[in-house]
Amino acid sequence: MDQATNLRRIVLEQGTKAKKTKTIAVTSGKGGVGKTSLSANLAIALAQTGASVTLLDADLGLANINIIFGIIPKYNLYHVIKGKKSLRDIVIEIPEGIKIIAGASGFYQLANLETKQRNDFINGFASLDADDYMIIDTGAGVSQNVLSFVVASDEVIVVTTPEPTAITDAYGMIKSIAAQAYDKNVKLIVNRVQSVSEGKRVAQRIINIASQFLNIKVENLGFVFDDSVVPKSVRNQKPFIVSYPKSKASGCVSIIADILANRSGGHPERGSGMSSFFKNLMNFSVNKDDEDDLLDDIEESKEEKE
Ligand SMILES: Nc1ncnc2c1ncn2[C@@H]1O[C@H](COP(=O)(O)OP(=O)(O)O)[C@@H](O)[C@H]1O
Ligand SMILES: [Mg+2]
Repeated sequence: MDQATNLRRIVLEQGTKAKKTKTIAVTSGKGGVGKTSLSANLAIALAQTGASVTLLDADLGLANINIIFGIIPKYNLYHVIKGKKSLRDIVIEIPEGIKIIAGASGFYQLANLETKQRNDFINGFASLDADDYMIIDTGAGVSQNVLSFVVASDEVIVVTTPEPTAITDAYGMIKSIAAQAYDKNVKLIVNRVQSVSEGKRVAQRIINIASQFLNIKVENLGFVFDDSVVPKSVRNQKPFIVSYPKSKASGCVSIIADILANRSGGHPERGSGMSSFFKNLMNFSVNKDDEDDLLDDIEESKEEKE
C-alpha cells in the first residue's frame, strides 16, 4: 500500500470510530455502595445533555435496574442468545429518555456460543452502535465475571463510599483492573459523602495510593452527597434525577454527567462500540468451568445483600 492509501484508510477508520458507542462499566469493590442508583441516574443525566444512552443491567446476581424504574422486563439477553428474541424485542425504551437492556441471566451463556451464533449476536448490536453511550451496571467485587465487563468496556467508573472497608475494596478493585488491563481509563466516584471536603479527601487518598503503588492514573469524577431522596426514589420507583431534580444528589450526578460528556469533547466520538464490547466480553467471558464460580458469586452476593 502506498502512503496515500494508508492515510485514507486511517482517516476512514477514524471516521467510523467516531460514530461508535462509548461503553462505560460502573463497578465497585464492595457491594451496596450505589452502583445501580448512580448508573441509572447518570444514564438519564447524560440523556438530558442530549446524548443517546443505553443502560445495560449486567449485575448477574441482583438484577435491580428494573426495581429502580419499576419495570419488569419480560425478556433479557438470554432470549437473544438463545435465538428466541431479537435485540430489538428486548430493548426497553423508557419515558426518561434512555434504553434499557436486561442482561441478568444471559451473560454466562456467551462463552458457549457457536461461531455463527456469536457473529449473529454481535452483529445484532450494530444497530445500536450509533448510540453515544452504553452504561453497564455490573456487580461488585473482584470476580472474573465482573472483571470481564470492565476489561471489555472503554472506560470504567469505580464507585466507593467514604466507609473504610469500601475504600479498601475500591483500591483492591483498581488493583485488579490494573493487573488485567493496565491501560484502562479508570474513573472514580465517591458516593454518600457528608461534605465537599470529605468527597475530595477520599478521592485524593485513593488516587494517591493508586498512583504511588500501582502506577495507575485514576481520574476523579467527583462525589455524590448522601441524600434521602436516593432511597426515597427507589421506593417510588422513579429515578431521583427526574423526581427530585433540585436535590443535592441530582446536582452532583448532573455535574458528573457534564464532566463525562465534555471531557470526551462532545458526544459523538471515540468509543469502540457495542459490537466490540460484546466481542471482547465473549473472548474474555467465563467458560463452562467457571460456571460454578459464577453461581457461587451469585449466591454470595445474595447473602451479602440480606
Ligand atoms: N447518595 C446516596 N444517598 C443515600 N442513599 C444512597 C445513596 N446512594 C445509594 N444509596 C442507597 O444505598 C443502597 C444501595 O444502593 P445500590 O445502588 O443498590 O448499590 P449497589 O448497586 O452498589 O449494590 C440503596 O438503598 C440506595 O438507596
Ligand atoms: Mg446494584
